[in-house]
Amino acid sequence: MLIFALESSCDETAASIVENGRKVLSNIVSSQIKIHEEFGGVVPEVAAREHLNSINYVIEECFKQADLKRDSIDAYASTVGPGLTGCLLVGLNAGKTLALVHNKEFLGVNHLNAHVCANFLDTDLKPPFVCLLVSGGHTQVIYVKDYDKQDIIASTIDDAVGEVYDKVARLCSIPYPGGVLLDKMAQEGDSLRFNFPQAKVKDDEFSFSGLKTAVLREVKKFNKDELPKQDIAASFQKTIADTLINKTKKIADNLNCKTITLAGGVAANSELRKRLKELENMGYKTNAPQMKYCTDNAAMVASSAYFNPIKCKDSLMLEVFSRS
Ligand code: KG4
Ligand code: ZN
Repeated sequence: MLIFALESSCDETAASIVENGRKVLSNIVSSQIKIHEEFGGVVPEVAAREHLNSINYVIEECFKQADLKRDSIDAYASTVGPGLTGCLLVGLNAGKTLALVHNKEFLGVNHLNAHVCANFLDTDLKPPFVCLLVSGGHTQVIYVKDYDKQDIIASTIDDAVGEVYDKVARLCSIPYPGGVLLDKMAQEGDSLRFNFPQAKVKDDEFSFSGLKTAVLREVKKFNKDELPKQDIAASFQKTIADTLINKTKKIADNLNCKTITLAGGVAANSELRKRLKELENMGYKTNAPQMKYCTDNAAMVASSAYFNPIKCKDSLMLEVFSRS
């Protein structure tokens, strides 16, 4: 089954064609990073307008890359939510229109489930597994019992990990997109120089607002031009990885599940990927999606449309939703 999917929930306009939820035939992503850079973050109205400007281009490029005709597609899919309303509307309406024009099925996709399904792209991974989903808007540990059976076991009670990365980057005057640059800086720093606290919360919770405040307290002790950004970044990154990996491992142990995976934009983080890999020495099987499938893309949307589309009577009536 060939699915053509669109993603436009935040600041990436993307299109992809995927066979049977796993084999990526084309993957086009048009990023708005340059446009939002001058504002230091995503401006929803600007983002929505940019999706409108790019959507036809990514659709055309996607078919060109796969060297396929429109009539070879079996179903069309779009991200329905969560995300920015104006942005989601562009991808959703384009997806529905393509399905109507070509008389094919339309499938709605949950963006968070799409991130989880990035684990199936170009792999033969099968459930059950425990997935640590870390993105700009969400931090969750999900038990993927089966392709369409997923339980959220733990989630954040305040900031999402990606959000904290972006906020801490701003505190250190690191430009947008903060997460990626902070990760690069951390690789050159001393992770033991600052001892940042791990929140004391329940087993099914994460909390990162205290960590953010602790970083701010350290930053304030230095003159701006003497700030040891690399060491702060490395110590912050270590604290985040310790917290995330330890809790995820504990949850997997409680569920008696020996496979642990990553998902979401922060799954591109070097330390997190290294720490996940180390679990293999303790007898766990692990998987982290390829870097290009961690941050927002449409290949993961096509995979989710294949394995776990939003269940409803008439998918053409689906409306966007901003929150999960
Ligand atoms: O999944 P995503 O592309 O968008 C959402 O659905 O939210 O995630 C974006 C988030 C941003 O907060 C970005 O700073 C973070 O992922 N991110 C990273 C890295 N690459 C992207 N955070 C830490 N290290 C990275 N290498
Ligand atoms: Zn995302």
